[in-house]
Amino acid sequence: MTNDIKTIGVLSSGGDAPGMNAAIRAVVRACVYHKLECVGVYRGYEGLIEGDFKDLNARSVKNIINRGGTILKSARSKAFFSKEGRLTAYNNLKNKGIDALVTIGGDGTFAGASVFSNEFDIPIIGIPGTIDNDINGTDFTIGYDTALNTVVEAIDKIRDTANSHNRLFLIEVMGRDAGDIALNAGIGAGAEEILIPEQDMGRGRLIESLKRSKKSGKTSSIIVVSEGDQIGKNIFKLANYIEENLTGYEVRVTVLGHIQRGGSPSCFDRVLASRLGVKAVDALIDNQKNVMIGIRHNNLICVPFIETLKTIKKLDLELIRVADITSI
Ligand code: F6P
Repeated sequence: MTNDIKTIGVLSSGGDAPGMNAAIRAVVRACVYHKLECVGVYRGYEGLIEGDFKDLNARSVKNIINRGGTILKSARSKAFFSKEGRLTAYNNLKNKGIDALVTIGGDGTFAGASVFSNEFDIPIIGIPGTIDNDINGTDFTIGYDTALNTVVEAIDKIRDTANSHNRLFLIEVMGRDAGDIALNAGIGAGAEEILIPEQDMGRGRLIESLKRSKKSGKTSSIIVVSEGDQIGKNIFKLANYIEENLTGYEVRVTVLGHIQRGGSPSCFDRVLASRLGVKAVDALIDNQKNVMIGIRHNNLICVPFIETLKTIKKLDLELIRVADITSI
């Protein structure tokens, strides 16, 4: 299919995620392959508004597939919320001769893309990039697998010291509204309890469960707490509560924080990002617009932005069951 697209802009926006560079590399090289021009937009929508652009060629993206972060930098732009900001962005795009955009990010990125695309009739394709894995319409987002491995590696180390001192550790992991990191890393690291925003366990039940574990012979405990969980909202207060209501354990807190957002991407994330990047350019050539490229059962699919913005993903009850059974 032919169309008028000659130049594609690419940007990363929102929280960065390992593998974003691999996606940028794939978009740039797919453009070169299809004889299209590619322009990098720096700092997400902020860069669109400020006209912070750089022409990219196949060599501009050399040696980045293995690097965490994003060479295009990222930002959460407040100015893009205003019509005035978006008009400036549109004028900059037109002046630079950019006909279409590929935006790499999370739901906030797609919400902005959707408004912008509808307002100015500019084709935009989204690529899901966030460690949270909280986007509807895709089984996986770029960066999630790497973050899981980072978390599991950290918890393995904490387990060593927890064991030596018979301690209970509360470990806070990222995932603002989604428990995917907590649940999967918790299972992978053999956590005793996993607290996630999608399911309110309640402090009383947590204490009862910890008492049962202790009675069954456990001498140390790992509790993974998602940052968005209600009872773990203030993890230090939760630690005090546990110490006051459970005898025999010293309690310690570790907040893993932004360590989860950095590091060299896993092979899974590199391959996923490469596939999504190539497909995003294919989609623009195919006259698609306002869609995110997702992956479902290992097939790449186009998901309308509007579908990606729907409320929280459904909780995987099978995983909850596995966590309950394997932590006995
Ligand atoms: O959305 C990714 C994420 O890392 C969340 O898990 C976390 O709540 C948030 O970003 C942190 O944002 P910031 O880096 O802006 O503090």
